[in-house]
Parts: sequence; structure tokens; C-alpha cells
Amino acid sequence: MGRARKVVLAYSGGVDTSVCIPYLKQEWGVEEVITLAADLGQGDELGPIKEKALKSGASVSLVVDGRESFVKDYAFPAIKANTLYEDRYPLSTALARPLIAKMLVEAAAAYGADAVAHGCTGKGNDQVRFEVSILALHPELKVLAPAREWGMSREETIAYGERFGIPTPVKKSSPYSIDRNLLGIAIEAGILEDPWEEPPEEVFILTKAVEDTPDEPEYIEIGFERGIPVSLNGQTLDPVDLISQLNDLAGKHGVGRIDMIENRLVGIKSREIYETPALLVLIHAHRDLESLTLTADVTQYKRSIEDTYSRLIYQGLWYSPLKTALDAFIDQTQERVTGSVRVKLFKGSAKIVGRKSENSIYATDLATYGAEDQFDHKAAEGFIYVWGLPTRVWSEKMRGQ
Ligand code: ARG
Repeated sequence: MGRARKVVLAYSGGVDTSVCIPYLKQEWGVEEVITLAADLGQGDELGPIKEKALKSGASVSLVVDGRESFVKDYAFPAIKANTLYEDRYPLSTALARPLIAKMLVEAAAAYGADAVAHGCTGKGNDQVRFEVSILALHPELKVLAPAREWGMSREETIAYGERFGIPTPVKKSSPYSIDRNLLGIAIEAGILEDPWEEPPEEVFILTKAVEDTPDEPEYIEIGFERGIPVSLNGQTLDPVDLISQLNDLAGKHGVGRIDMIENRLVGIKSREIYETPALLVLIHAHRDLESLTLTADVTQYKRSIEDTYSRLIYQGLWYSPLKTALDAFIDQTQERVTGSVRVKLFKGSAKIVGRKSENSIYATDLATYGAEDQFDHKAAEGFIYVWGLPTRVWSEKMRGQ
């Protein structure tokens, strides 16, 4: 008896996940491996990937288009929460994991599988995100992680694959580990492991070097409805088009590069390079529109939970009671976050230069320094008396001692 009879494996088409197919069957006695490749806009051709899984021994090779759900159900809630892990990373990779986990669980039910599997190693965040999401959705389902246990080096993995007809990668494999989807690219390893080394230009795919960006600024206008981006330059777009067009626009101006040392969930610090043009612009624009439409106390209170929300996404707790509870709060705050934000893209920066909303609570007659001023200046005196009272009492006491 093997570890499982029928397994649905999360499949990318790379060497590791391909080798998982014969490995599960040969070493762990699995009878049938069904692969699932999620199309999340990673730009790979999925036809050949589907074929490759079958050639590597999969009985069924599924390709599921998850792009729309990825943006609507995973990226948009993150934008509403202005999520930036450790103040910088907009979670482009992390957000994909709970969706892939959900697809695996659904496929396991549809095909009567008794386990699901992934190709993550034991050092990363993604194994945690996959497994915690899977157990949240289906606590009884077994999860197999062959690449975490097989202990093969890269060369050994390739050699193992060759025995089962998995071709050796033709290109000299890139020294970098790259994870890509519609929301962006995460790049690590190789020379990037030295935090002092500047990332070589060759690692970037979505964004231009500032040296190569246009010499003229470009103004764009993003429309939001209830906290969700719905249009670009006055044109209503579906979620997937909006993200891809904005990636192109912002990337062309060198916007969206991040170079950071981040704290992984498994205790390791890692140096990661990200390219997330659209997501970064949208978070900044959204946050700005909130400052026009939310009261001071809601804005400030919301900021304090945004960090919690970012961390729970990073830490694999998408399907958790805390996330559900915070969503209720966040969705309530978004009721009136409707309007437009004008952004100036120029030489690696995306500056917010204008915002407007039918729900704006910015009051010109109160803010103005001109003749139309309606603010009652005399009222400030009494306010300062009351506001400063505790400080006055404290200060008098201190001086008297
Ligand atoms: N550090 C990022 C995260 O945990 C990305 C992980 C995948 N990165 C990669 N280069 N393969 O969300």
C-alpha cells in the first residue's frame, strides 16, 4: 500500500514538478497522478505543459484558467486592504497560493483523489501557504510534498527524470528562481543571494531600467468603485485587462521594482527582487482615494489592521477566521471609496497628482486660506483650552515638585 492511491499534483511544467510524477508512482506507490496547471497569467504556453505532464506519466493533465478569479477574489481584497508585507512587498506570489490550493481541493473532489501534492521544498513560504490553505478547505485530505523529502540535488533530480523520459532542460538553466503571474514576478537566488550586489539588469522582465524609460511623463487616470479598480483612462476594463494594461504602462516607465530583504515564515531572511508595476500603482492610488473619502478615525484605524492583513496573507492564513472578520470591516469601509485618481508615471516613479470623488469629504470652504473660509477661528481657543488641559495639569504638578 502506497502513501495514497490517486493524487492531484500542482504542476508548473518545470523539472521538479515533472519529476514528482514518476517519483510519486515509483517511490511512494501512488497508482494515478493527475496534474493541475493553473493559468494565473504567468505567460507560459499551457499547451506544451499539458502535453509534458502526460508524457511524464500523468493520467489526466488539467489546465485551469484562474486569471479572473485571481484578480477579483484575491488581488482586489488585497488592494482594498492596501497590503504591503513589511511595508514593501504587495504579495504577488503569496496571493496565488490559496487559489491554487482551492483548485487542488476541487479537483481532488471531482476526480475522487485521496491526496494532493505540491513540489515545494522545505525552506520556503509556499509549502506553508499551500498546506495551511488545503487543510483549511479540507482537513481530511492528505498532502504529499515529495520534493521536500527526496533529498536529491538538482543534477540528481534531472538524472532521475531522464530515466522516466523527462527531458533535461535545453537552455542552460537560469541561475535565478523565478515565480511569475499576472500580478508580478519574484526573482531570487544566484548572485542576488549577496545582499550587497546590485541586481543585474538581466533579471528584470516587466519593468524598464530608468535609463531606458521615456523622457516625457505619462498621466493616467484610474477609476475605483467601492475600493475596486474598474477603469483606466476613462475606459471600463475587466479585471484581467486592467491589470495587464497597467503592468505595461507602469513597467514602461520603470515603475514597480522592489529590492528587499524579507523575513520568511520559516525563520530565514531572504533577498528578493520583485516587479509588480500594476499592483503597486493600484495600492498607492487606492490608499490616496481613501484619504479623500474616509473619516480620519476610520483611515487611521484601518491602517493599523492593514499590516495584520498583509502578514496573514504572507503567512498562509487566507482561509482563516481572522481574515473573514477583517474582510467584514474592510468591506464596510469601502462602501464610499469611489472616484478617480490621477497618476504621473515618470522615470521610475508613480506620483499621485490628483484625486476626486462624488463622496469626497474634503471641504474646500473649511480648508481654504482664501476669503471663502468658513472655519470658525475663534472656536480654536476653547478647543485648545480643553485639549491641552491634561497636559497643563501634568506640567503644573511637575513644576511644583
Ligand atoms: N518570497 C516571496 C513570497 O514568499 C516569493 C516566493 C517565490 N519566489 C521565487 N523567486 N521563486 O511570497
